[in-house]
Amino acid sequence: MTRDHMQQLIETAQRVLVQNYRPQPLVLARGEGAWVWDVAGNRYLDLTAGIAACPLGHGHPKLAAAIAEQAKQLIHVSNLFYIEPQIRLAEELALRAAPSMGAVRSFFCNSGAEANEAALKLAKRYQTTVLGRPERTSVLSFEGSFHGRSIATVALTGQEKYRSGFGPLIEWARILPWPTTALDPVLQQITELTCAVIIEPIQAEGGIRIPPQGFLRALRDRCTATGTVLIFDEVQTGIGRLGAWFGHQHPEEGAAPDVMSLAKGLAGGVPIGAMVATDALAQGFAAGSHASTFGGNPLATAAGLCVLRTIAEERLLDHVTAMGEHLARGLARLATQHAARVRGVRGRGLLRGLALDGDATPVVQRCREGGVLLSVAGGTVVRFAPPLIVVQAELDQGIEALDAALGA
Ligand SMILES: Cc1ncc(COP(=O)(O)O)c(C=O)c1O
Repeated sequence: MTRDHMQQLIETAQRVLVQNYRPQPLVLARGEGAWVWDVAGNRYLDLTAGIAACPLGHGHPKLAAAIAEQAKQLIHVSNLFYIEPQIRLAEELALRAAPSMGAVRSFFCNSGAEANEAALKLAKRYQTTVLGRPERTSVLSFEGSFHGRSIATVALTGQEKYRSGFGPLIEWARILPWPTTALDPVLQQITELTCAVIIEPIQAEGGIRIPPQGFLRALRDRCTATGTVLIFDEVQTGIGRLGAWFGHQHPEEGAAPDVMSLAKGLAGGVPIGAMVATDALAQGFAAGSHASTFGGNPLATAAGLCVLRTIAEERLLDHVTAMGEHLARGLARLATQHAARVRGVRGRGLLRGLALDGDATPVVQRCREGGVLLSVAGGTVVRFAPPLIVVQAELDQGIEALDAALGA
């Protein structure tokens, strides 16, 4: 395969695909660990991990074997029947959610937006049907958030660029200002008339923003006091990304939701989403209240089981914490060396960002030309979301490429 072949594919893509993406000019063909190759045979260090969706990296032998084995047995049957890997995956999630959330139940779907949709529908039904409070209609989210691309999740996404042109959006969705202190007055906007609040433990697409220390706990308290359902969108922060199974279990947090949404890393790159709700909240759905044809199908849940077990067996949570600290030190060095252009270093675990004084896109492009794939978050932040199996030397190579790109 040659560069011409890659160029031809890109030209075809521009003709036959809806032009809703602005991809980097590479057609990727295969991967191994934290590395990928394009169809012309060029190798890149992939520190994007499919937007935080490939915790085990590419071509992980255990995951590839689990998927192949399941594909030979049964790929799909629908929820007209019980599915063993789906049941086992729910058990594994319950085990890992228990320390913060107590007893939980899972509903499986196919993406992060769908997991959030399920969480919103569950909160609504819980308030109206289980508690008999039909007056509680409003759902609140925060400025800078990202919750997905469906109409309801767009309405709750606090960034205008994702909302524009889709109005009028849903009237019960309201976006609150981003808090600046733990006890920010914004909390008073949550009242006895609020149905639910949704928040990311760290705003990822919004530019790797961590809420003020103690805010999530204060939010938990306010939701408990007003009878409001608290939803944590853990689509990007879950499944080990911050060095804990779920972002809210990070030692610096200590606030648990009533419902959390998961997707991305859960099945190592196979499409999946999950809504995990406390036993009490889960009563909001009865047979027929919600469904998904592919949700929790044998293939996706067998992959999910392999991912969770591999993270546990290979002690990847500790590895993420150690690698995250190493990465943070490297980024802090860059912040000093390029002080004129850098506004700060943000993040936890292996979700880190270098905030720049302007558009991060040209910097990410230069990194790609230097053989390292990164992505932009919130317009001005260079995001590192490598596979959880990344090693120190690979992170160093990423830092070096970013150093060169910032110096260029
Ligand atoms: C926090 C968060 N929520 C929801 C989503 C939407 O997930 P999906 O693209 O799988 O629908 C994303 C995707 O980036 C996300 O980061």
